[in-house]
Amino acid sequence: MLNALRTDNSPFNEQQIAALQSSLAALSPGQSLWLSGYLAGQLAGASADIAPAAAAAAAGAPLTILYGSETGNGEAVAEALAARFEAAGQAAELKSLDGFRPAALKKLEHAVFVMSTHGEGDPPEEALDFFEFLDSDRAPKLDKLSYRVLSLGDSSYEKFCEAGRRLDERLQALGAKPWGPRVDCDVDYDAPSEAWGDEVLEHARETLGGGDAAGQPQAHAAHLSLVQAEPAPWTRLQPFSSEVLRVQKITANASEKDVHHIELSLEDSGIRYEPGDALGVWAPNDPEVVAEILDGLDIDPATTVREGDRELAVSEALAEHHEITLLTAATIEGLASAGAAEELASEYEALDDAGRRAFLERRQLADLVAAYPLKLDAQTLVDQLRPLASRSYSIASSQGLVDEEVHLTVATLASDAIGTERRGVASQFLNHRVGEGGQVRVFLEPNRRFRLPENPDTPIIMIGAGTGVAPYRAFLQELEARGTNPDTWLIFGNPHLRTDFLYQREFLQWRADGLLNRIDAAWSRDQEEKRYVQHIVAEQAERLDEWLARGAHVYLCGALAMGESVTSAIADALVNARGLDAEAAAAAVANLRREKRLLKDLY
Ligand SMILES: Cc1cc2nc3c(=O)[nH]c(=O)nc-3n(C[C@H](O)[C@H](O)[C@H](O)COP(=O)(O)OP(=O)(O)OC[C@H]3O[C@@H](n4cnc5c(N)ncnc54)[C@H](O)[C@@H]3O)c2cc1C
Ligand SMILES: Cc1cc2nc3c(=O)[nH]c(=O)nc-3n(C[C@H](O)[C@H](O)[C@H](O)COP(=O)(O)O)c2cc1C
Repeated sequence: MLNALRTDNSPFNEQQIAALQSSLAALSPGQSLWLSGYLAGQLAGASADIAPAAAAAAAGAPLTILYGSETGNGEAVAEALAARFEAAGQAAELKSLDGFRPAALKKLEHAVFVMSTHGEGDPPEEALDFFEFLDSDRAPKLDKLSYRVLSLGDSSYEKFCEAGRRLDERLQALGAKPWGPRVDCDVDYDAPSEAWGDEVLEHARETLGGGDAAGQPQAHAAHLSLVQAEPAPWTRLQPFSSEVLRVQKITANASEKDVHHIELSLEDSGIRYEPGDALGVWAPNDPEVVAEILDGLDIDPATTVREGDRELAVSEALAEHHEITLLTAATIEGLASAGAAEELASEYEALDDAGRRAFLERRQLADLVAAYPLKLDAQTLVDQLRPLASRSYSIASSQGLVDEEVHLTVATLASDAIGTERRGVASQFLNHRVGEGGQVRVFLEPNRRFRLPENPDTPIIMIGAGTGVAPYRAFLQELEARGTNPDTWLIFGNPHLRTDFLYQREFLQWRADGLLNRIDAAWSRDQEEKRYVQHIVAEQAERLDEWLARGAHVYLCGALAMGESVTSAIADALVNARGLDAEAAAAAVANLRREKRLLKDLY
């Protein structure tokens, strides 16, 4: 892109252009993107005068950029693409699939879709109605539509990029024509999504007209205008290094769960979050586990490996850059095709689907090294391992009370399914490795889909199990800070009252102060019959219906399976309380979702 810079189309002289070209050529696509946002933020004041020129340059038929996103990655990719279109003087319309009118679909001629996958191969919540419409008899012929799909997913899930795949297939079945292949992105989606964006922009220039061929300076100005009010952001690729202020165990020693309350400093970061948001965390792998793997493979930790255009020690590559706790089918297949793991591959291939799933879930790389004769050199090893991904944690605090801090509620993921105790990388790092005074690289993951109601009087019902209680602590802190007092009801579940009542003192204090009107708890193992939050929903059907009639918003947070059980329990409760049949109750639940009164933060 910088090759297009010349003295006659930019304000720079030849030396400046040469210096810019040599400095910026070394940056990755993600680093370039961050830098452009950073400069835009710094120079925001300059945008007002020059933005109109670029806006005027936009012409040609518009491309519609549609996205379905739940945790914000796809939304950010779609926004970045729209910003690039604006910068290039190319017309584009950016739209969420949330509330996208089906009638608009048959008028579409040029569109691209950015689609993530959630649940177990499901579309994101905001795209559910769109998928339902596409799959229905009402879906129109789409033979005028030329489109392209970018899917976001995670190959550690069984149904990788399923929603993007379904969308692509269904659009074609309705007569739409893809002008290029679907691109399925894994957790390291930055470079492939940017390359896809290059192709989309190029295609739009060629087929839709418009653009501003000689307009690099104006293009930059247009980008400034998009971000002018924003402070320079800390992002996934440029995280803020935050000091750990407090690490406190909040389950009793006798508990089977190991949950910690973590307090991090955001001092001088400028990060402002809202209750309902999550924090992204980068955690390095445990050096002891890295050493165990390298020792088991007889690889010298100092051996140099190549990662892109960098060289580094294999021990650093494993500690900082690759997944060693999460195994995927692709890792096993990669090891097998590298000729490194015949015994492992033949044992794995003999398993059925469920057996393979269990095999992967119960083992980490260190277990494979211990159990199978793997013939691997350092480079082959790192080439087969997925890039290390960040982990997300629901924020458990409100800045109205804690100011420049952010609090998390983290359960250590531990398993000894095959006899050796193994820990999850990020939960173990936060709870047991980093320690107070240490540093954690973090970034904000806004979640506009899990916010307190706009109306301060709207009642709220907060349903969660385990660490699912985290955002409710944030909600109640926020209500306390705002001084508003809507009706609030917490339905919480965990194994035992005595050992697992997370934030017991705080929730009971809010109850005593009247900020929290009602707490119902399901202690699953305090009696012979298991008792979960969905049982409370069933028992409290009349009360639930009465709160809903008063416009209550219902929040669900915690494990995916819990979310599904509670959603069915709400439908059953409506059958009982309102005398609806099952179909009408399911429609009522779907309506709650559409009205944004049934809000989910599930993982
Ligand atoms: C939006 C969002 C919010 C979240 N909020 C919280 C929160 O508030 N508190 C919290 O503690 N966690 C939360 N999580 C989960 C968190 O992001 C991590 O997935 C979790 O801490 C495990 O990460 P890890 O790196 O410790 O384990 P990993 O290193 O990812 O996994 C280690 C091993 O455990 C297995 N494994 C992974 N996940 C599970 C699982 N769920 N059950 C059984 N085995 C598993 C893997 O197969 C692997 O073998 C949230 C997730 C999302 C998406
Ligand atoms: C709870 C949860 C479930 C997920 N399920 C899948 C899945 O079944 N298949 C898949 O490919 N990716 C899955 N993912 C990964 C997401 O698609 C991936 O993180 C993506 O970047 C999210 O994009 P978004 O932030 O735009 O929603 C899941 C992620 C979460 C948090």
